[in-house]
Amino acid sequence: DPRLPRAVAALSRLPPAAAAGTEAAIRAAPDRFFALLAEAEAESAAAGGLLQLVDKNHALPAGYEPADLASLDGSPLRATKSGMKLRKAIMGAALAMHEAAEADGVRLTFASAYRSYDYQDGLFKRYAAAHGEAEASRFSARAGTSQHQLGTAFDMDPIDDAFAATPAGAWMAANAWRFGFSLSYPAGMESVTGYVWESWHYRYVTKPGAVLEREWFGGVQQYLMEFLDAYGNGGG
Ligand code: DAL
Ligand code: ZN
Repeated sequence: DPRLPRAVAALSRLPPAAAAGTEAAIRAAPDRFFALLAEAEAESAAAGGLLQLVDKNHALPAGYEPADLASLDGSPLRATKSGMKLRKAIMGAALAMHEAAEADGVRLTFASAYRSYDYQDGLFKRYAAAHGEAEASRFSARAGTSQHQLGTAFDMDPIDDAFAATPAGAWMAANAWRFGFSLSYPAGMESVTGYVWESWHYRYVTKPGAVLEREWFGGVQQYLMEFLDAYGNGGG
């Protein structure tokens, strides 16, 4: 399969055991893997980019602000405060998820969504002043390195470990992937993601991307995003 070498090269970005598992899974079902990959990339390209890797080693430009930010105010999405924004490109997915949860008797409430570079800068500095920089950087991103600046990530209410055991937390853990959303910082993955467990923080990875994450990348968003970043740069 001529598509495999580029994928295998991109997998070298992952820890060896994870890369080996993903490679074996690709070899077992290459057509489905590359079809989903093409779908995810096409949706991302059509929306002006939805799959950018943003983490401690991959920052956004300070001035970056999505062009299609839309307010949650006046939308059916429930929020803890006014003025929250997400990219228009993911509003349909967010609304569909919200409606599906309601139909299951579960109320989802957004607690934080888009955050500008300057807002994140102030947030991190406040945490650093209170906890010290090293401790703050385990749960808060430095300005330019937060997924919140993408406008495709959000926190559910409450922003607390208790969220995981709420009906909303359990529903999100089981269903968010069906709408293209993925838990960014799973439990026990600080050495991989750079952050402690955040049961309330999700980012959009597209629906085919969420399927890729579950079936080929062990449910680890960081691995999917690292792969996509390397693959998009030619594989290496
Ligand atoms: N709490 C996450 C890591 C952020 O600040 O973006
Ligand atoms: Zn968050």
